[in-house]
Order: sequence, then structure tokens, then C-alpha cells
Amino acid sequence: MSEMNLQALLQRVNSTQIAPGNPRVRALTERIVTDLFKTIDELDVSADEFWTAVDWLGRLGAAGQLGLITAGLGFDRLLDIRADEADQRAGRQGGTPRAIEGPLYVAGAPTATYEVRVDEGAPKGEVFVMEGQVRDLQGQPVPGALIDVWHANEQGGYSHFFPGMQPYELRRRIQADAQGRYRLRSYLPPGYSIPPNSPTSELFEALGRHGHRPAHIHFLVVAPGLRTLTTQVNIPGDTYIDDDFAFATRDGLVIELERGVAPAGYESLGIEAPFVRSRFDFVLTPALNDSEASPLARIARITA
Ligand code: DHB
Ligand code: FE
Repeated sequence: MSEMNLQALLQRVNSTQIAPGNPRVRALTERIVTDLFKTIDELDVSADEFWTAVDWLGRLGAAGQLGLITAGLGFDRLLDIRADEADQRAGRQGGTPRAIEGPLYVAGAPTATYEVRVDEGAPKGEVFVMEGQVRDLQGQPVPGALIDVWHANEQGGYSHFFPGMQPYELRRRIQADAQGRYRLRSYLPPGYSIPPNSPTSELFEALGRHGHRPAHIHFLVVAPGLRTLTTQVNIPGDTYIDDDFAFATRDGLVIELERGVAPAGYESLGIEAPFVRSRFDFVLTPALNDSEASPLARIARITA
């Protein structure tokens, strides 16, 4: 076989085929391989460096942590920025801002109507109630909207990913009532950090970066005919609120807290002493097609 230089090899890699294949996959692979060839050449990557990276990717995947590096490298926020820009170009305005889903959503959480206690047992932080309404752009309530909520425990861990937690711990789905209202009780979670001593932390240590996210609570809000909203709210006062490892905090999503709220009217949530309350309405925009109104979160939607 012939001797080849970089350009000839790249040309062969990108043009070899015995069948049409998938044109989109071909185009993306061609671009990525071309850019990586360029990186290896221009940064003079050694064989040892290359195989160290391949080994790290293997360990990252084996640990189920591929989803943990995308947010920290900005990809999740990039997708949101591009979606926002596409909306702007299309003249689609208003609604609660989107914010990254993150890698830690789990479908199938226990469902309740109107109100639910998200945590169980003794509170592991300040007792917290979040309540509000799901509305459309005209201000009309969205009866029966489904609100998935999930957040980290007092150690910053998410159930199904963090050892020692119960299935669906700190994960619930609330069906809004006939006026589109919901309320939930939990405790104010602390921030989250990437798992220590892991392939994920190896990367961020090598980059000289921290892996902390400010305290936040995730939501996925779904209703027929309306665009599925994936968002998260931030709890004010967190050290990392403007220094989020995942670059995902946004104006309009930092909630206001009222401390020392009297318990009257909150007995059905088991509250008997002053607590912290936040009012937050979710405003949904019209869906232009079935896919935008899909009740499924990211992974379920793309594998459906
Ligand atoms: C990551 C973790 C989160 O809790 C989150 O909301 C987003 C990203 C992460 O580890 O990448
Ligand atoms: Fe999170």
C-alpha cells in the first residue's frame, strides 16, 4: 500500500465507504476527525498523550460520567444559547427562561396532584415551600400541567447517581390543579459538586477548575400544545451563583425567599412552624409541533 501524508490520510478516512451510510453522521464525523487531526498536528500531540486521552475517555464512559463533563465544558449552555437565538430570530418571546437539564434527570418519579412533599422524614435543611401557577403567554392557567422536580440532597448528591440514596429520593412529579396551581415542600438544598476522585474530577483538576454548582432545583414542565420547559431555579446567596461550573445560572431564575412564613394553611404539607417560602410561576409558550410538546425528557425523547 501507498505511503501517505496527513492530508492524504485524512482524505482517505473521510472518503472511504462501501455504502451511502448516514450523511449527517458522515458530515459530523468528517468535521470532527479533520479538526482532531489538525489539533494533533499543530499541538504536536505525542502518542502517549493521545492514548492517555483514549484511556480517560474509556474510564469516563465506564463510570457513566460522559454526561458530567458536557455541562462543565459549556456544551449544555451552548445548546440553550442557540435555542434562545433561534427563538429570537423566529420572533418567539416570553415564557420562563430555559436552563440546562443536566445529566441527572430520572423519569418515572411518584406523582401527586397540586401539592407534594418532595423530601421524606426529618428535614435536612431549612423547610422550604415553593408554590405558584403554570400559565400560558396570555396569562391563562394551564390546568393539569405536569411538573417534574428534582434536586440534590444535603450532601449535594442526586438519587440514582449518589450512593446510599433511595430510588426517587428528592424526585417527584406534580400535576397542577384546575387553576394550574402547584405547591411543593422540601428543604433548601446546598450546591452540587462533581464526584471527587473520578474521571470527571481528573479533567477539571487538570484544567485548574472547580466543579461546583450553586444550589439549584430542576424542573421539567409539560402540558398539551405547549412547549416543554426544562429549567432550574437558583437559591439566592450561594457563593457560586455567578461562578457556576455548568454556566447555567440565569437572570430571572434566581428565586426570592420569604423567611419566617407562618404555617397556617400549610398543614397539609406537614408544616407546623415558620418556614421559607418562594412563589414562582412557570410560563409556557405555544408548541409549534408535537416534538416541542413532547412530555419526555431529553434521553427518553431521543431514544423513543
Ligand atoms: C451537572 C450536575 C448538575 O446537578 C446539573 O444540574 C448540571 C450539570 C454536572 O455534573 O455536569
Ligand atoms: Fe443539578
